[in-house]
Amino acid sequence: MRFNALFDAWAATYDAVVAGADEEYADVFDGYDRILERVAEEVEGPPGALVVEIGVGTGNLTRKLLARGYRVIGVEPSQAMRAEARRKAIGADIREGSFLHLPLDDERVWAFVSTYAFHHLTDAEKEEAVRLMAARLQPEGKIVFADTAFVDDAARRAAVEDARRRGFVRLVRDLENEYYPLVSDLEGMLARAGFRAFFERMNRYVWLWKAVRG
Ligand SMILES: C[S@@+](CC[C@H](N)C(=O)[O-])C[C@H]1O[C@@H](n2cnc3c(N)ncnc32)[C@H](O)[C@@H]1O
Repeated sequence: MRFNALFDAWAATYDAVVAGADEEYADVFDGYDRILERVAEEVEGPPGALVVEIGVGTGNLTRKLLARGYRVIGVEPSQAMRAEARRKAIGADIREGSFLHLPLDDERVWAFVSTYAFHHLTDAEKEEAVRLMAARLQPEGKIVFADTAFVDDAARRAAVEDARRRGFVRLVRDLENEYYPLVSDLEGMLARAGFRAFFERMNRYVWLWKAVRG
């Protein structure tokens, strides 16, 4: 998996970074807990509904989903992240896998959720991931994601320039090498898979989106 080494190495210190310890990423993770809470809130499933979380990392959203009474399958490619998630999110079924290799049997899914992970896929891979999720969702199911996205190319370039001006070398590298989509690209790929999507800006970088059929 493309980013496994990075996330295996990052697992032990990840929670400090999302809490704001790393100045370079403070804007990206601004309001992190509130963003995860909003994703969990938007699931709006009946008690015990199956929620599949992809790219669980250290299990912070997983815990919020469990607290709301959902049955949670967590999918995560990094071994070290899986270990952290299993330690912190007791009761979740944490499985090795990825957006493109969903380790699911014939379970029907109420919701797919994910935070800060979708940008690890190229746009073609994102499109394929949406198709795979659509095939598994119950008819009234939904996809609720939050991740960095930009309104247009000018906004993406401005973010890179701003990070460069502030000397944020690692953030610049991420913004230039990972696959941050435009909001309109997300909307298009969801529409092609038969979804209507609603977008909400959560901070300078992150957008929450909810997709339902129709
Ligand atoms: C920045 S962390 C986010 C973790 C957590 N969701 C959160 O919000 O704190 C990104 C996570 O996505 C995972 N990831 C990377 N590529 C992935 C892929 N192709 N499929 C699923 N997860 C992936 C990484 O291993 C890592 O745990």
